[in-house]
Parts: sequence; C-alpha cells; structure tokens
Amino acid sequence: MKLIIINGPNLNLLGKREPEVYGHKTFEDYFSELQFRFKEVELEYFQSNIEGELITKLQEVGFEYDGIVLNAAAYTHTSVGLGDAVKAIITPVVEVHISNTYNREDYRHVSYISPGAKGVILGFGLQSYDLAIRSFL
Ligand code: DQA
Repeated sequence: MKLIIINGPNLNLLGKREPEVYGHKTFEDYFSELQFRFKEVELEYFQSNIEGELITKLQEVGFEYDGIVLNAAAYTHTSVGLGDAVKAIITPVVEVHISNTYNREDYRHVSYISPGAKGVILGFGLQSYDLAIRSFL
C-alpha cells in the first residue's frame, strides 16, 4: 500500500502558524508518528506553496499510488486547476483539513477539491490525516 500526503500552502509553518487553530506540532514530527503507526504503509510526504507544483505532483503519483491524502489548504477554496487535477487522475483522493472549515469564514465553505474526492475528513486537528490513512486500509 503506497500512499502520499500532499500538503498545500503555509502548512510548512505548522507548529508556529496560528497555533490556536492548527496546534503546536510541526508536520515533520507528526509525519514521523504516522510512519511509526502505519509501518505496513509506504508513506510519503510532499508539501508545496506553489499551486502548479501541487498539480504536477498529483499528476505524477495519480496513476500509480494507491491513495492520496490531500490538504490543499487555501487552494482548496480557490483552485479550479487542483480540482480538475483531482478529477483527472485515477488514484483516489481523500481531502483533509485540520480545522473545521465550516465553522470558519464563509469563503472556507467552498471546496474545489470535494467534487472529485473519494471522501472528506475535517475538523479533527492533525488526527484528520490519521483517519484519512485508515480509510485506505
Ligand atoms: C486548512 C483550512 C484552509 O481553509 C486554510 O486555508 C488552511 C488550512 C486546514 O487544514 O484546516 O491553510 O486546509
């Protein structure tokens, strides 16, 4: 089972970015925990602040890997290109968000990712990623 977590813009700042919303842990630390927890899974991690790089990565892995856990962060709410990429690939995508985007600003209530996603998990903090991985097992 080969899975990849793809994180979008500003998620490289987890741990120091708005900790009251996103928590105090860096994603690198959390990713190590996930690797320890899911030893049977070949787990990769990719992060970019650049929309086109995220699309290129989806295209690269999207005909080969067993699953993609995607937190497109702010691009979730703006990117037709990322939404199209999710629909274009074969590998199932589970959309995740750390925060519950539905109890935040209105502009976070729209997702261009969801229509092409296998499922959506949000609002469980970093545990959203854990739950998304479990959904593939
Ligand atoms: C986020 C929610 C988005 O609205 C926001 O732009 C992010 C993070 C989350 O994981 O809660 O950067 O995707």
